[in-house]
Amino acid sequence: MGVDGAATMALARREHALTTWQFSDGNVPSRAVTLPHTNVQLPWHGFADAEFQFVSRYSTTVCEHFAADESVYVDFEAAMVAAVVYLNGVPVGQHRGGFTPFSVELTPLLSSDVEAELLVVLDSTELSDVPPFGGRLDYLTFGGIYREATLRIVNECHINDVCVRAIDVMDPSRRALEVAVSLLGPVVGMTVDVVLHDKEDRELASTRVRVDRAELSTRLDSLEEVELWSPETPVLYRVTVSLGGEQRLIDHVQVRTGFRELRFTERGFSINGKLRKLVGLNRHQTYPFVGAAMPARIQRRDAELIHRGFNCDIVRSSHYPPSKHFLDYCDEQGLLVIEEVPGWAHIGDDQWKSLLLRDLEAMIRRDRNRPSVVLWGVRVNESPDDHAFYSATNSLAHDLDPTRQTTGVRNRLNSEFLEDVFAFNDFRPDGRASAPHLPYLIAEHTGHTYPSSATDPAMHQQEHALRHARVVDQALGDSSVGAVIGWCAFDYATQSSSGAGDGICYHGVADIFRNVKPAAGFYSSQRDPSDGVVLEPAFAWVKADFYWQSTEPHARVAQAPLRGELSPAVFFSNCEELRLYVGEHWIDTLVPLREEFPNLSHPPFRTMRVAEHEGERWGDLRVEGLIAGKVVAKRMMSARGYDARFSVAADDDQIFADGVDMTRVAMVVTDEYGNIRRQATGAVALEIAGPGELVGENPFALVGGSGAIWIRSDREPGDIVVTMRHPTLGAASVTVRSAGRGEA
Ligand code: GAL
Repeated sequence: MGVDGAATMALARREHALTTWQFSDGNVPSRAVTLPHTNVQLPWHGFADAEFQFVSRYSTTVCEHFAADESVYVDFEAAMVAAVVYLNGVPVGQHRGGFTPFSVELTPLLSSDVEAELLVVLDSTELSDVPPFGGRLDYLTFGGIYREATLRIVNECHINDVCVRAIDVMDPSRRALEVAVSLLGPVVGMTVDVVLHDKEDRELASTRVRVDRAELSTRLDSLEEVELWSPETPVLYRVTVSLGGEQRLIDHVQVRTGFRELRFTERGFSINGKLRKLVGLNRHQTYPFVGAAMPARIQRRDAELIHRGFNCDIVRSSHYPPSKHFLDYCDEQGLLVIEEVPGWAHIGDDQWKSLLLRDLEAMIRRDRNRPSVVLWGVRVNESPDDHAFYSATNSLAHDLDPTRQTTGVRNRLNSEFLEDVFAFNDFRPDGRASAPHLPYLIAEHTGHTYPSSATDPAMHQQEHALRHARVVDQALGDSSVGAVIGWCAFDYATQSSSGAGDGICYHGVADIFRNVKPAAGFYSSQRDPSDGVVLEPAFAWVKADFYWQSTEPHARVAQAPLRGELSPAVFFSNCEELRLYVGEHWIDTLVPLREEFPNLSHPPFRTMRVAEHEGERWGDLRVEGLIAGKVVAKRMMSARGYDARFSVAADDDQIFADGVDMTRVAMVVTDEYGNIRRQATGAVALEIAGPGELVGENPFALVGGSGAIWIRSDREPGDIVVTMRHPTLGAASVTVRSAGRGEA
């Protein structure tokens, strides 16, 4: 008997988020917390790595009604680093490794009508026998159950895994979906129904299989009408798999997928038969204050910033699998992903290697249905060669997923090439390495070779942006390079052996608060103007910076050593022409630097002439951006040279009133036209009113004229008002509505 529709659905699997836990770090009495959770809230920089490395305890009560033939599991998306799980004091499972999901079965010790205590004892120290630890590491892992946990009740016969694989995608008459289903329990004689739905939820194809063994596969044919998934058209389909027994639905799962053909070839990256260059950035998953413990909205927001904000085609989840929410955005919106195993430069002993193989398997099983994932990174980033080990990681990836290519990122060109795509971290500022093997991609560039913090002088930040622009331009002109992926999207926390001395690597095109630097303007400006006109100055309009060029030689000598080589003023824009005025005086008309950047869609603009025209005419700079002779963008920069305004803004007007959801509230000091004032300082006092909590430092000392804190909702709905008071510029506030899931 097959599935009998919605009436019987309630009998199938039930899943409940395990959101609220009692947390204890051993020092203070336990308190209620929600997941995602960091074991300790920290300053945004300057803390000792040891501060999050301790053992903590999370407990919650499980009281679930379940039938005699049902099984109960707790599923963790991730917990950092080593978890031992107890039920009523009895150990029921353990997991060592902080980046991949794991499940623990509770059934044997659970009684159907008695409450039970679930306890997780979590060791968040950097355990040298667990990847990525054992060597130096250029990132921090932080601690806590920092992703979600779920209680899952299923029949003892249930669906363990579903793997879907689109085949012959480019041939409509042969296009098909292979579906492999893995079942648990005494399932022989039951039926499995597989249904493919489109985005309007129309049923496109279905099939029914009688179960004769636990691992089965079937296929859906005649998929001529299916729309292909691509970055521009990220069309997702839903596949439902139902396990049916005597008159009833036993289990039901659904997965999303897309139909696309992605391949790195010797001629470059190809998607659905078309060659395309990919430009992207690396991303670390950590944030100020809470490590990696950020909920779905914030994870998605990072992906959106990289995709829409920085106009990237691809992101590398350096150096571990990211949150599922980050990847959900990528599937839904068309941002390609390279996913890689946890690690950094170090390979441990056999026990360590077996954990890495387990992590690789968990990553692929979790994410192989996702259309956005384009490559599996099966090598530890920048690790030495290890023929036996990396042959094993490659073949494991190919066995689990024959459709995707593998890659492995190295810092040596003569490293043994065992994967499908050779990936190299090319940190040369000028002139790219020549690809020793094809297909080839640049997995990192720029990064530590030219760090740039929000507090650095504008000219330094401008040069940082230009270095990204030069590398991307060179890579786009090299037919051997399939993708060029910069280091990195956001500044990140790191071990004291790396970083700038305060535990931060200032390598991002945005800072750790997700506030942008001029380099983000470069990436952003490469978009087609139909997707938004961009006009971003990469300099500050500071009189002294532009004055000395037109003064007497002795003045130059006096100032040059202090200021270094004077940079010209650069703009990143997708306009065709820029016109510059000081007051009403025209001073220059700029065209893109096409000779210097022949391969960029929208080369930067530069002027040297500003200086020659200032002197008596110093005043506000007005810039007009033109396309097809029409002014499409305007930008003003104040000549007054003082902090004029303090403003705050939230990334979201509304969040969920669930005690979990968060949004960022950013603050900035600007001139009167909204240009950031990087030298602005001040301790900003924060107040929150309404059903929410501040996550951040209070007062918050501005960093490079800006900063951010986050707010977390309570379970009560209502308006959350955040007021920020700058010591001299006054107060500004923002209201975020917190509403039930139905409303938000
Ligand atoms: C690379 C490494 C990255 C990061 C980067 C800094 O060598 O792969 O993880 O440390 O340097 O530029």
